[in-house]
Amino acid sequence: VGPHIPQHRYLIDTIAGGSVIQGSAGEAAIVAFLAAITKKTTSVRQRLFQSDGTCFPTFCSRDNMVVFSSDQAHAIVKKACMVLGIGHHRVIPTSKENNFAMNSEDLRDAVSEELAMGRLPVAVVATTGTTSSCAFDPVQAIADVCKEFGVWLHIDAAYGGAYACVPELQPLFSGLQQVDSFVVNCHKKLLCPFDIAALYVADRGPVLQALSLQPEYLRNAASESGAVVDYEHWQLPLGRRFRALKLWFVFRRYGTDKIRLHLEKGLALSAYFSSLLMGEESEQLFELAVPVSLSLVCFRLKGRSEEDQKRFLYNIKATGDCFIIHTKLADRMVLRFACGGLEQSREDVYNAFKVILRVAKEM
Ligand SMILES: Cc1ncc(COP(=O)(O)O)c(C=O)c1O
Repeated sequence: VGPHIPQHRYLIDTIAGGSVIQGSAGEAAIVAFLAAITKKTTSVRQRLFQSDGTCFPTFCSRDNMVVFSSDQAHAIVKKACMVLGIGHHRVIPTSKENNFAMNSEDLRDAVSEELAMGRLPVAVVATTGTTSSCAFDPVQAIADVCKEFGVWLHIDAAYGGAYACVPELQPLFSGLQQVDSFVVNCHKKLLCPFDIAALYVADRGPVLQALSLQPEYLRNAASESGAVVDYEHWQLPLGRRFRALKLWFVFRRYGTDKIRLHLEKGLALSAYFSSLLMGEESEQLFELAVPVSLSLVCFRLKGRSEEDQKRFLYNIKATGDCFIIHTKLADRMVLRFACGGLEQSREDVYNAFKVILRVAKEM
């Protein structure tokens, strides 16, 4: 993917790491959290049983565990906590001043507070390309906090991860070498049809410990000799679809250079769209809600009420010529224009802008 991604750490034939295709970023988060829980409870057990093991059951009960993410993390984080019965999801607030990225000092304070309350921090989720505004949490600084407290760091790179292969964007991903796991959705920017999410783990041990079972009817010589990798031990279901095939076709059809060009085209189009919004003809009408990030442009009608923003969105969709969806940032409604579709051209973006401009002028 890119030189900064330490492939040697994540490939199956290395000492510790590994990678596996999952169905979605949501499933990948569940697998990562299971591994995090296993790793944490194993280390706590070792520590406690050397002294007094009596508090282990309460301290290590899932009710007492806590997972951390920013308020911009995707809902998969909360859902993974719900599914696994993790008692607490500590949400770190973000702010416009920090472009809605997590502040690592706030994270450090939150982890310390949870520990002081007697809770067991098991995992932190940082996002490189949040869903609402494509914010980038600072991976390196967050990795330092996680290391300090011995907490598993999972990176949700579902949307943004593919852009790591664009050389100029690599600084956005620095620190990825330090994380425990990260996931990239190939069904987002890597041109595959749904569903295929690549999960990387720096240490496959806790994943296998959490998910391996060997019932009699699955015993076979190849597995027992270690000649094959049984991916059933890396995921929730037993059976697997042959998802790798569609990724293989994409790589055969495009190759890494053309995938990079495709991503760069999305970046150029988002820059183009924002230049139209902020151009002479329109800058009185629109404002950018955050600086453009990757292929996403978040904008609002300038100086208008929340009701107007809603009506604006409704009116744009009602034209049937342009489809955009909204989010809320700091409680304010924001419209999101996504660039980077495979067949999207500069002309398409210009035409969409014309629709948006017309609707804005009519308001
Ligand atoms: C940052 C991020 N994480 C996770 C998801 C959810 O992905 P999946 O449907 O693969 O679980 C999305 C989807 O929009 C996303 O943008």
